[in-house]
Amino acid sequence: MTLVKAPPDRLYGRVKGKKLRPRQEWLLAEFLPRVAWPENQFAIAQELWLEVGFGGGEHAHALAEANPGINLIAAEVFETGICSLLSRLAPEDVADPVPPANLRLFTDDARPLLRALPDAALAKLFLMFPDPWPKARHAKRRFVHPALIAEAARALRPGGEWRIASDDPTYQAWTDETLAAQTHFAVTRSTERPAGWPPTRYEAKAIKAGRQPVYWSLVRR
Ligand SMILES: C[S@@+](CC[C@H](N)C(=O)[O-])C[C@H]1O[C@@H](n2cnc3c(N)ncnc32)[C@H](O)[C@@H]1O
Repeated sequence: MTLVKAPPDRLYGRVKGKKLRPRQEWLLAEFLPRVAWPENQFAIAQELWLEVGFGGGEHAHALAEANPGINLIAAEVFETGICSLLSRLAPEDVADPVPPANLRLFTDDARPLLRALPDAALAKLFLMFPDPWPKARHAKRRFVHPALIAEAARALRPGGEWRIASDDPTYQAWTDETLAAQTHFAVTRSTERPAGWPPTRYEAKAIKAGRQPVYWSLVRR
């Protein structure tokens, strides 16, 4: 097997958005500490799922609500996105919001988190519409990368699934090429969102703008 050197864990996307409103400040200061991973462990030990780059959090929230029998760690670094998921969990009109038992937020780079997981710890991994970094000289910034594929394969259990979606033609071609060169996963590719995959905000924007998403399901051999 060829060993691929992993690119450095450096974040290039935006981490801070617009100035936060008082409600968002409250969510970060008061509610996040109640749902932050790893400070808050899951109430029950059950199979573990990980979403990388949850954006506005609609996908992570839908997964956690539809699947009470799993534990989901949702990772995001963009502050406005983190506030958006927190506001789903703690709506302003609910006086005493109760943190969900099976959803935790990791508000840092998902790559070291993935590497820190024990072998075969994950049953599912989600990478929905990652930042495409379409310029060739930025290819090392892409989450889909031979080194990351080996790391995801290590962290997923046999039979576990990695779901990837992208609307960017360069990223789609890159993903096809990278997946064709690996043997850890059996790959299914579709231009229709498969049943059971919640929609995402970024996907809706892409479709509205006339871009065709591609969805890959990778099953760990
Ligand atoms: C294009 S957005 C898509 C968001 C969402 N998945 C959707 O489909 O609407 C990609 C997100 O990934 C986040 N992101 C990028 N690299 C990350 C990393 N290493 N760890 C955690 N989040 C990351 C970015 O902050 C950004 O919000």
